[in-house]
Amino acid sequence: MQTVDRLADGLDGFEGRRVLVRSDLNVPLDRSVVTDDGRIRASVPTIADLRSRGAKVIVLAHLGRPNGQPDSAYSLAPVAARLGALLDTRVTHAPDTVGDSARSVVEAMKNSDVVLLENVRFNRGETSKDDEERAVFADQLAELGDAFVSDGFGVVHRKQASVYDVAQRLPHAAGGLVLTEIAVLRRLTENPSHPYVVVLGGSKVSDKLGVIASLLGRADRLLIGGGMVFTFLAALGHEVGKSLLEDDQMDTVRGYLDQARAAGVGIVLPTDIVVAPEFDAESSATVVAADAMPADQIGLDIGPDSAAAFAAALGDAATVFWNGPMGVFEKDAFANGTRAVAEALTQTNGLTVVGGGDSAAAVRQLGFTDGQFGHISTGGGASLEFLEGKSLPGIDVLED
Ligand code: 3PG
Repeated sequence: MQTVDRLADGLDGFEGRRVLVRSDLNVPLDRSVVTDDGRIRASVPTIADLRSRGAKVIVLAHLGRPNGQPDSAYSLAPVAARLGALLDTRVTHAPDTVGDSARSVVEAMKNSDVVLLENVRFNRGETSKDDEERAVFADQLAELGDAFVSDGFGVVHRKQASVYDVAQRLPHAAGGLVLTEIAVLRRLTENPSHPYVVVLGGSKVSDKLGVIASLLGRADRLLIGGGMVFTFLAALGHEVGKSLLEDDQMDTVRGYLDQARAAGVGIVLPTDIVVAPEFDAESSATVVAADAMPADQIGLDIGPDSAAAFAAALGDAATVFWNGPMGVFEKDAFANGTRAVAEALTQTNGLTVVGGGDSAAAVRQLGFTDGQFGHISTGGGASLEFLEGKSLPGIDVLED
């Protein structure tokens, strides 16, 4: 994969060049306030580097999943403001992607200026499965730049116009963030040090099937919490009350449990659960045994015994990958499991990698700092697909 330095050599330097940078600035917002700016921070070094070399930096990014048309709820305007604050410069937010406004904003750029185009997903061509439709949008984007730097690791698993097709149209390079992410994640897939312990949480087991299947051959222990654990508990024949449950995945989950037993991989499930009668009934939270959940309660976190057991199972780990919170960490009464896992990771001597927007936001919200972990990946789905060994279109396209 070509680096930014080699791309610069090929262009005789970046001075005055219009460089399109695909970043992943898909951050959580609460009424236009960015609540976790981790992905924006992670995108700063590449943009700052290009600025320092005199490039005109045109950032392409998405926010959420708008329906292929402008929707002010998904505007990148608040993100442009935060990016500007972190870069300590003005970031001009173009009010559209490839229309007249975007073109005139780009035409007016001076060397080292930064422009963030509006959400690329406001254009149907961005996410279209139809190659022709994506091509039309990619052609328009490519007209705005002289070169392309792919730095949005969180979106490289998407075959989308601003990730994949633009790279085919312009001299391109992998940005430093993408290269760092790949280097760290390779340490989890190529000869990881053992014991290799994986912690999986989050709401849906169906999002994690591929990665579970592939980890059953590589990890020593799999600790499972979060909403997805109730499908495991139900598969073992336990009552799970009103908790999240994916009925259609029970057979698959039973298959994983059998496979793990045969392969000598320890699957560690919680033995106690924090439950409440309603999602937001924090004050009524109680702890019950995982095999005796009342039918009228919802499981919202792993219990204290389980948190201690999970921490103990992480104690001697030489490699840890963690994706997905253990409970509804946004609410105090249901945050302990996630806090205990984060704490255990900070005590581990091995390589610890936290992947996924939710887990990254969780550790920051619970007061941990990025420096307490080996690596906090900006990729959710992208890091899972990488671990599964799937080919990632946004990486493959950079290989030529
Ligand atoms: C993410 O949040 O994982 C990335 O930004 C990709 O977003 P997407 O799942 O909507 O494609």
